[in-house]
Amino acid sequence: MSAQFHWNPDTYLDMMRAEVPNFDALQEAAVAAVPFPPSTALDLGIGTGETSRRLLEAFPEARITGLDSSPEMVFRARRLGIEVRLARMEDPLPDGPWDLVIAVLSVHHLRSEQKQDLFRRVREQARSLVLADVVTVDDPADRVTPIEPGFDFPDRAGDLAEWSGGEVVWSQGDLAVISGTY
Ligand SMILES: C[S@@+](CC[C@H](N)C(=O)[O-])C[C@H]1O[C@@H](n2cnc3c(N)ncnc32)[C@H](O)[C@@H]1O
Repeated sequence: MSAQFHWNPDTYLDMMRAEVPNFDALQEAAVAAVPFPPSTALDLGIGTGETSRRLLEAFPEARITGLDSSPEMVFRARRLGIEVRLARMEDPLPDGPWDLVIAVLSVHHLRSEQKQDLFRRVREQARSLVLADVVTVDDPADRVTPIEPGFDFPDRAGDLAEWSGGEVVWSQGDLAVISGTY
C-alpha cells in the first residue's frame, strides 16, 4: 500500500478502495469473524475508523478504544465518539482485559518478529483476536494489493494464524481474516 507520505484521512477511503478492490468485503469479513459480542474492544491501527464504525453497528453495546501512530488518523477516528489514542502497536498496549482486539490492514506494517511480539502481548490481555490483512500468496494472479518494500511487510496467512494462535476463517486473493479465542 503506497503511503510513504503521511496518512491523509480525506483521501484514505478512495485510495484504499482503488488499491484494495475487496476493501469493503475485507472489513465486513473482519466484523463477521468476531467470535462473540464484545463488551470491550481495542482497534489497532484504527485509521479513519472504518472497522470500528462497522463494529459499533454490529455491536452497539461495545466500548471501543482505538490506537494509531498517525495524529491525522487519530483526530479523524475520534469523530466516532470513541477513545482513540496516539500510540504504536510496538509499544505496550492500553490496559485490558479486552474481549476483542481487532486489527485490519495495519499489522502488515510490522515485521515478522514485531508481529509475533504483538500477538504475545495481545494474548496476555485479550479474549479474542481478529486480524484482517494483506498476506503473501503464491499465485501471481492473486497479488493484487500494491506492496511497498520497506513499508509493507505481509506474511503468509498460515504463519499469522500459527503465531497468533488463531485460524484462517476467510480469504480472497491476497487478503485473509484470522480469528482466535484465548
Ligand atoms: C491501511 S491503514 C488501515 C486503517 C484501518 N484499520 C482500516 O481498516 O481502514 C493502516 C493504519 O495503520 C496505522 N499504523 C501503521 N503502522 C502503525 C504502528 N506501528 N502502530 C500503530 N498504527 C500504525 C497507520 O497510521 C494507518 O492509520
